Amino acid sequence: MKAFQIKKYGKKEKLQLSEVAEPTVKENEVLVEIHAAGINLLDTKIKTGEFKIFLPYKTPLTNGHDMAGVVVKVGSGVSKFKVGDEVYTRVGDYRIGTFAEYISVRENDLALKPKNLTMVEAASIPLVGLTVWQALVERANLKKGQKVFIQAGSGGVGTFAIQFAKNLGATVATTTSTVNIEMVKSLGADVVIDYKKENFEKVLTGYDVVLNSQDAKTLEKSLRILKPGGKLISISGPPDTDFAVQMGSPWYLKLVMKLLSFGVKKRAKRLNVNYSFLFMKAEGDQLSEITALIDSGKIRPVIDKVFPFEQTNDAMAYVETGRAKGKVVVRVK
Ligand SMILES: NC(=O)c1ccc[n+]([C@@H]2O[C@H](COP(=O)([O-])OP(=O)(O)OC[C@H]3O[C@@H](n4cnc5c(N)ncnc54)[C@H](OP(=O)(O)O)[C@@H]3O)[C@@H](O)[C@H]2O)c1
Repeated sequence: MKAFQIKKYGKKEKLQLSEVAEPTVKENEVLVEIHAAGINLLDTKIKTGEFKIFLPYKTPLTNGHDMAGVVVKVGSGVSKFKVGDEVYTRVGDYRIGTFAEYISVRENDLALKPKNLTMVEAASIPLVGLTVWQALVERANLKKGQKVFIQAGSGGVGTFAIQFAKNLGATVATTTSTVNIEMVKSLGADVVIDYKKENFEKVLTGYDVVLNSQDAKTLEKSLRILKPGGKLISISGPPDTDFAVQMGSPWYLKLVMKLLSFGVKKRAKRLNVNYSFLFMKAEGDQLSEITALIDSGKIRPVIDKVFPFEQTNDAMAYVETGRAKGKVVVRVK
């Protein structure tokens, strides 16, 4: 089968279109024919080698975390899926490879695809949807009537997070640039700040939760808009010790993570707020709950561009510009 592989880590390296063996299927796995694959910044960070320290993948490696497709084979121990099911997933770490024609997926990482979405639309959802679920539900326990600040409302995570938080009944503030203001309003954002013209710290105060996805300066300012007891969940760093534990990292990396987050944790404590870093994980049950939300029309995908499979490198390069409005997807079949 055809697959886009990382042969060598590096900023300037491109994925190589290669002929590789079709995956085998173990007892609790499902073989999926991939119809579409979503692109995430994580894919570009894996390719550059930025994540090598936490996820020491060996090359050659088929890249890609998100996909939607059709089940073509099931392992003997699989109970939740059958041949012909339309499914989607963010595959587990160390099991990546959705920029390909087929992939073998653990059934626990998989969910039925929302019925009202095309394959392309469905492939845009898993990684960002699970990130938002794990940040706003699992970590923050965001409740009706609370105030949440979601940075970069026009991005892949932001477009999903605004809709998700509104559905929970929260008041949503977001940042974006002038061209995307109408888009984030249409997704339900209550307070929209043009980050090129206004300083959000001057406008927002007494927030319960911040979903931080930007740089260190933005993180520092975000700590100060929280009310006492408020929670900041960062998906862009700095990583903390719990993350090293989650990744099964050796003791010296736990120490490095502790040092990296020491300053921000200290400042958060002084402000009587909570800081934590989140690295999302594959989770089929949570993805099934997201399927239900989408099926009920409460959340819709926001897709910026769709590329043909052959142009997977162009799709990656576009995401890497940091200017995507919503998600970028590759049509595989
Ligand atoms: N830890 C995790 O588990 C996890 C999971 C998912 C994502 N992430 C990380 O979270 C970050 C966001 O991911 P993403 O997929 O949403 O990225 P993305 O889709 O590439 O974000 C692009 C968007 O960001 C906006 N933007 C850029 N700079 C901004 C700023 N200073 N303020 C407000 N908006 C700004 C851009 O809007 P304009 O063009 O208007 O500037 C653009 O629409 C990335 O660093 C990603 O790696 C981490």
